[in-house]
Amino acid sequence: MKITNLIEKNQFSLHQEEFALDVLTGLSSHPKSISAKYFYDDIGSELFQKISQHQDYYPTQTEFAIFQKNCAIIPDIINESEIDIIELGAGDGHKSKLIIDGFLDKGCKVNFYPIDISEKAMQLLGENLTVNENLNIHGVVADYFTGLAHLKKISNNKKLVLFLGSNIGNFNKAQSRDFLKKLWFSLNTSDHVLIGYDLKKDTHVLNKAYNDTDGLTEAFNLNLLNRINKEFGGNFDTSKFQHYGFYNPTLEAMESYLISLEDQHIYISALEKNFHFEKFEPMHLECSHKFSPSDIAYLASHTGFFVEQHFSDDKNYFIDALWQVQKESP
Ligand SMILES: C[S@@+](CC[C@H](N)C(=O)[O-])C[C@H]1O[C@@H](n2cnc3c(N)ncnc32)[C@H](O)[C@@H]1O
Repeated sequence: MKITNLIEKNQFSLHQEEFALDVLTGLSSHPKSISAKYFYDDIGSELFQKISQHQDYYPTQTEFAIFQKNCAIIPDIINESEIDIIELGAGDGHKSKLIIDGFLDKGCKVNFYPIDISEKAMQLLGENLTVNENLNIHGVVADYFTGLAHLKKISNNKKLVLFLGSNIGNFNKAQSRDFLKKLWFSLNTSDHVLIGYDLKKDTHVLNKAYNDTDGLTEAFNLNLLNRINKEFGGNFDTSKFQHYGFYNPTLEAMESYLISLEDQHIYISALEKNFHFEKFEPMHLECSHKFSPSDIAYLASHTGFFVEQHFSDDKNYFIDALWQVQKESP
């Protein structure tokens, strides 16, 4: 598998500078926050892989089951003899494998371009995919749209963009619309997207998924503090922060916080700055928005996509939406 890394490795690359600036602005804000996109260093990617295999974390198992049931139907709908599959935030790719195999089983040639900000995720993905003479794989380590821009002119083949695992839920409703419009703009008419949406459901199921019994999500969130310690010389003590994840029905989102268990000062040497945390002060890490089927239909119709098919599971926990890009001619 060929990998192109668009993120420079030197200590203060653009990516590191952006991360440092986000930590500075996030820890200087009220309430404090750090973006979820920084969860995925090597340890974070491995922890997420464990979370996704945990019995309490229904989204991965559910989406896997949806693909097991429908992976033969998707190539029939798309009906191409060769396709470029681009995956945004691919992670370990074990669900993408089902989609890819669906096309290969129909004799379709597949060029797979996973894009992920984490180099570790790209390595994990390489271990999950099996060699096939009809499959070319070219991984790109980059932010979603930097990767997409890099791949824009790769070929004239029809494209299928995968955005799975409810990654779209990390955006709020306005940001999801902007993201989808940007995605529409970067594709050609009649290209396809397959997007995983986590649906609104019993709050007990939601809260259990984000508070697994083995403390994996807690470790995943606290790892962000370790990452800041390692990369920017911070002195966070993870035992002085508590993970708190709950469903906010007004926001229609799971929210994750780390709460300071004492009044404390954190020094981050790369920023040459102390940050004060009051006892019980929260730091916001992540929102994972949940959708209704009508929210999803609304998003398609307001961002230039035609709904080809929505695939769901027996419990109606999740929808994978297959849409086609619609552009107008004069
Ligand atoms: C929640 S995991 C989902 C992985 C996989 N799509 C799945 O469904 O299991 C999110 C993945 O997206 C990647 N990611 C997060 N923000 C990103 C960004 N802005 N650009 C590229 N990749 C990103 C992370 O590194 C991680 O591998």
